[in-house]
Amino acid sequence: MQITGNTVFIPGATSGIGLALALRLQAAGNTVIVGGRRTELLARIAAEHPGITTAQIDTTDPESVATAAKEVLASHPDLNVLVTMAGMMRAEDWRTPGGFLESAEATFATNVLGPIRLLAAFVEHLRSRPDATIMTVSSGLAFAPLAATPSYNASKAAIHMLSESVRLQLAGTSVRVVELEPPAVRTDLLPGQSDSPFAMPLDAFVDEVMTLLETEPDATEIQVENVKFLRYGEVRGDYAEVVATLNRLDPHGS
Ligand SMILES: NC(=O)c1ccc[n+]([C@@H]2O[C@H](COP(=O)([O-])OP(=O)(O)OC[C@H]3O[C@@H](n4cnc5c(N)ncnc54)[C@H](OP(=O)(O)O)[C@@H]3O)[C@@H](O)[C@H]2O)c1
Repeated sequence: MQITGNTVFIPGATSGIGLALALRLQAAGNTVIVGGRRTELLARIAAEHPGITTAQIDTTDPESVATAAKEVLASHPDLNVLVTMAGMMRAEDWRTPGGFLESAEATFATNVLGPIRLLAAFVEHLRSRPDATIMTVSSGLAFAPLAATPSYNASKAAIHMLSESVRLQLAGTSVRVVELEPPAVRTDLLPGQSDSPFAMPLDAFVDEVMTLLETEPDATEIQVENVKFLRYGEVRGDYAEVVATLNRLDPHGS
């Protein structure tokens, strides 16, 4: 992906990685539209960062996705990058139905159906642009499981395989599919995560992501150094050790 001159929509950028990436992309010379549910944050972001526009969107609600897509495409017909950032993470206990069912349904609605709905709403438009990118957001946990968060891990594994598959179908079109694979990063994704010693500082993470986008414009997976421990356990042959270390070190983190 070229790092400048794009028009980028990031549903899921009212906080955390999405907001940090939105601000870096704007500073790098892109037009950025920030999306999310929390209207007070959308208003504050628009006020504090002239040039950034906002769109209210709930990616678990098909009507909201359709309405937001219509608005964003009407105001930004040159949109050429979609970042499916919106996500959630919850600890669950799969030993009793009361410990996981509602959480599992909500996690899949947000982390899997949300990106699917966004792709459905934008893919035709993106195909009409000469140079377009869909950036999906998985996780190191797509490749090694954290025991506390089964639905989250599985939802991100689904995003990994969806990204791989859709990329094959879009090969030969103007749309590239890039998968961002964050390691644990200090955000409010889980309680206690924003100051977890096991998570990367947000600024350092986004710095490294911007460098990778700039220096490896044809990369299909954006992997900062810290995620490679989780990402390549199977390839290296130390998967069992990776899973043991992850769950020993970071019983609650992402
Ligand atoms: N932080 C990590 O360690 C880490 C690691 C790997 C992957 N990730 C992934 O990175 C992405 C961003 O997470 P984060 O760490 O930056 O956490 P965050 O600060 O909690 O950000 C989550 C974002 O998603 C939005 N969102 C959640 N549900 C939504 C919905 N139904 N509709 C629209 N927007 C929704 C939130 O906005 P509203 O609440 O305003 O809607 C917020 O902007 C997620 O996909 C997460 O799984 C994070």
